[in-house]
Amino acid sequence: MKIAIIGAGNVGATIAYTLATQGIASDISLIDLNDDKAYGEVLDIAHGGAVSEQVNLRAEGYEGLADADLIVHAAGRGRQPGESRLDLARGNIRITEAIIGDVMKHYNGRSLMLVVTNPMDILTYVCYKRMGIDRSRIFGSGTVLDSSRFKFLLSSHFRISPRNLHAMVIGEHGDSAVPFWSGASIGPLPLSAYPSREHPRLSAEDRARISAEVVKAGQEVIQRKGATFYAISMSVARIIRAVAEDENRLLCVSSHIESLHGVEDVCLSLPAIVGREGIREILPLPLDPGEKAALQHSAATLKALLREVGY
Ligand code: LAC
Repeated sequence: MKIAIIGAGNVGATIAYTLATQGIASDISLIDLNDDKAYGEVLDIAHGGAVSEQVNLRAEGYEGLADADLIVHAAGRGRQPGESRLDLARGNIRITEAIIGDVMKHYNGRSLMLVVTNPMDILTYVCYKRMGIDRSRIFGSGTVLDSSRFKFLLSSHFRISPRNLHAMVIGEHGDSAVPFWSGASIGPLPLSAYPSREHPRLSAEDRARISAEVVKAGQEVIQRKGATFYAISMSVARIIRAVAEDENRLLCVSSHIESLHGVEDVCLSLPAIVGREGIREILPLPLDPGEKAALQHSAATLKALLREVGY
């Protein structure tokens, strides 16, 4: 599978590295205005090829899209400490609009589009509106990362492998994200019915703490190391593996929601079945009234910003 990554910054380069070391893609192109940087990243990954997976890596221009199966948009400015993803919007929308102009000059008519740059939900909508491709073939990294963080925190709380936790975050990848508590389970056991000697029940305080930690996790890393790029790249690689291997995997990617749960015409994350052709379908959820209201608030937050920036 040929992946073209636009943006050779921390996130784009780490996505390339993750795809290469996990053997998910046979061909990876790295596209960046700074082609010297892109070539440096390509060399640094390629030098490990003999002791890792065999991947063809190239630093090139938009001509690299000609045979791409999937395009990753990872170009733009990163969030600064204390800055919300939505603060980023104006500058990264301008960058995205310029990139889409270049992409459409070289678009091969079939590549899937995966948006990673923040504010990812907003930029997924911008790309959807400007590319004119079917909504099933364009999606954002969504809350796959947030859901992984949710599982990590629950795993720490219950001292259970994260592999046994089924837990999703829906809505915005950002401050209005919604941990889907009523749908969380440990193996076959709903979280609400999980009795254990150590944790008879999750208290309301535990839930509030974990919900807050999920939403603030990215900011906490940024305050310590200045940026996040490992977990997001692992999450993007998980999504791309589902496409490359046609897994029909349930993943909370961000996509254009026509009308579901009282949410209309916005891009946000709900569980979708992801395979070779992109999104096969989005699953409606049995949300409790509080979760439904929170999801609608998340949608309203995103739509308000879209209106502010002219979409
Ligand atoms: C984070 C970035 C990817 O949450 O928004 O780490």
